[in-house]
Amino acid sequence: MAGFRTSIFAFLGVLSLILLLVHAQDQSDFISIACGLPANSTYKEGTTNIDYISDANYIDTGISKSIASEFQGTLQQQVWNVRSFPQGVRNCYTINITRGTKYLIRGTFVHGNYDGQGNLPEFDLYLGTNMWDTVKVENASYSIIKELIHVPSRNYIHVCLVNTGLGTPFISAIEFRPLKNHTYVIISGSLALLLRADAGSTSNQSYRYAYDVHDRLWLPYNYNKWKDLSTGLTIESQSQNDYQPASVVMSTAATPINESAPMEFYWEDNGRHTQFYIFMHFAEVVKLEPNQSRSFNITLNGKYWYGPHVPDYLSTSTLYTSWRPMTGNNTYKFSLFKEENSTLPPILNAVEIYSVKDFWQSGTDQADVDAIRKIKSTYGIKRD
Ligand SMILES: *[C@@H]1O[C@H](CO)[C@@H](O)[C@H](O)[C@H]1NC(C)=O
Ligand SMILES: *[C@@H]1O[C@H](CO)[C@@H](O)[C@H](O)[C@H]1NC(C)=O
Ligand SMILES: *[C@@H]1O[C@H](CO)[C@@H](O)[C@H](O)[C@H]1NC(C)=O
Ligand SMILES: *[C@@H]1O[C@H](CO)[C@@H](O)[C@H](O)[C@H]1NC(C)=O
Ligand SMILES: *[C@@H]1O[C@H](CO)[C@@H](O)[C@H](O)[C@H]1NC(C)=O
Ligand SMILES: *[C@@H]1O[C@H](CO)[C@@H](O)[C@H](O)[C@H]1NC(C)=O
Ligand SMILES: *[C@@H]1O[C@H](CO)[C@@H](O)[C@H](O)[C@H]1NC(C)=O
Ligand SMILES: *[C@@H]1O[C@H](CO)[C@@H](O)[C@H](O)[C@H]1NC(C)=O
Ligand SMILES: *[C@@H]1O[C@H](CO)[C@@H](O)[C@H](O)[C@H]1NC(C)=O
Ligand SMILES: *[C@@H]1O[C@H](CO)[C@@H](O)[C@H](O)[C@H]1NC(C)=O
Repeated sequence: MAGFRTSIFAFLGVLSLILLLVHAQDQSDFISIACGLPANSTYKEGTTNIDYISDANYIDTGISKSIASEFQGTLQQQVWNVRSFPQGVRNCYTINITRGTKYLIRGTFVHGNYDGQGNLPEFDLYLGTNMWDTVKVENASYSIIKELIHVPSRNYIHVCLVNTGLGTPFISAIEFRPLKNHTYVIISGSLALLLRADAGSTSNQSYRYAYDVHDRLWLPYNYNKWKDLSTGLTIESQSQNDYQPASVVMSTAATPINESAPMEFYWEDNGRHTQFYIFMHFAEVVKLEPNQSRSFNITLNGKYWYGPHVPDYLSTSTLYTSWRPMTGNNTYKFSLFKEENSTLPPILNAVEIYSVKDFWQSGTDQADVDAIRKIKSTYGIKRD
């Protein structure tokens, strides 16, 4: 059974891969801020063609620093500089956005020994007054990435770094990417990314814009009981499927090596209180003969979840948690079972797992925020 792990190690090297631009797509709604870049300066990131701007117009505090040159080599340019905050407990960016739009919000942190001292801090990241996550830097070379899917209720948003006495906060980049309104729908709260995996990847590359129109980061995921299937053809997703996962991600799929065994993966929630949502993306990548078929059922913790599912040839279909989040269990185990009359085993092309952050829409007392922090459940995700 494959377990997913979502520590920062999973993101190690994400930004270090050289991705070739396939074709330019619209990025006019993107907000791409390179923190610590000299005021008023802009540049185009060569690997993605995304235009980045300095953070100087979004914040009055903090100081600009550069990461050490030995860390820059393979990393994208938006992390070459950082803004660090030796002064003040709480430092906030104010960023104008469009109220009511569903955004993917990404904070990136690469220490890169910018202070010349190798002091690796731990600090808190807030969205307004709401605790988003803790950033714990364990290695100066790691890219730490925090992602949220969030619908702001105002035309601006504060991204804040809070010094918790464990070192000087800093940040490398802040990015906003609009998503389609009726994707990633949940009852309430916002979604924090745990895992976004390109199952059956045949390269060791992660993919983002322009492969992915919404600039989601897809990390390669393979498992020793799975093998890869792939097609050189394009996977359609524009017309039928609003999630629009990148074609290059969907064109590879994992399938069990033992064709009669189920495909299984799981994660754990030690606190049992976390709410989760899953989004699984499927596309048939094999041109089936008339006497071949692929259909499978999906169970969650041994109970029927969906099926039978028959992936469409070269076209993405997305299965996801509907209306009610998954919660209250130590383990969440998904199993994909070949149907008895199916000649081929199940496949999985890509999967996303999120946890719910219950953010207040408007201002909240700091005391409330602190109380929530104390009762916040912890979850751990393990590899077996
Ligand atoms: C940045 O641009 C603004 C407006 O054009 C100008 O007032 C400011 O002096 C510029 N800052 C720097 C550091 O060039
Ligand atoms: C954000 O919007 C406010 C109000 O419309 C405006 O005064 C301010 O200049 C904007 N800030 C930036 C950085 O564009
Ligand atoms: C940080 O990560 C790099 C690359 O994985 C590794 O070579 C180095 O030993 C790590 N440093 C520490 C202090 O763990
Ligand atoms: C998305 O949904 C919100 C709330 O339902 C609405 O206010 C907004 O106009 C919608 N945006 C688009 C682009 O449809
Ligand atoms: C992917 O990375 C692993 C471990 O770093 C390596 O063993 C493997 O050969 C790489 N595969 C490809 C296709 O580059
Ligand atoms: C393949 O999976 C089936 C069903 O789980 C199992 O009965 C069988 O022993 C497995 N075969 C091998 C070679 O592992
Ligand atoms: C499907 O038909 C082909 C010949 O067209 C044959 O070689 C193959 O064994 C058949 N497969 C199954 C599962 O019946
Ligand atoms: C988790 O456990 C609860 C009982 O505590 C159960 O009602 C629920 O359906 C379980 N599964 C999921 C996916 O939430
Ligand atoms: C898959 O689910 C359908 C619908 O519930 C059921 O009829 C069928 O027996 C299931 N197949 C397997 C292999 O579990
Ligand atoms: C397999 O059986 C299910 C019902 O058990 C049926 O709905 C489905 O159409 C069948 N698939 C094929 C390829 O015959």
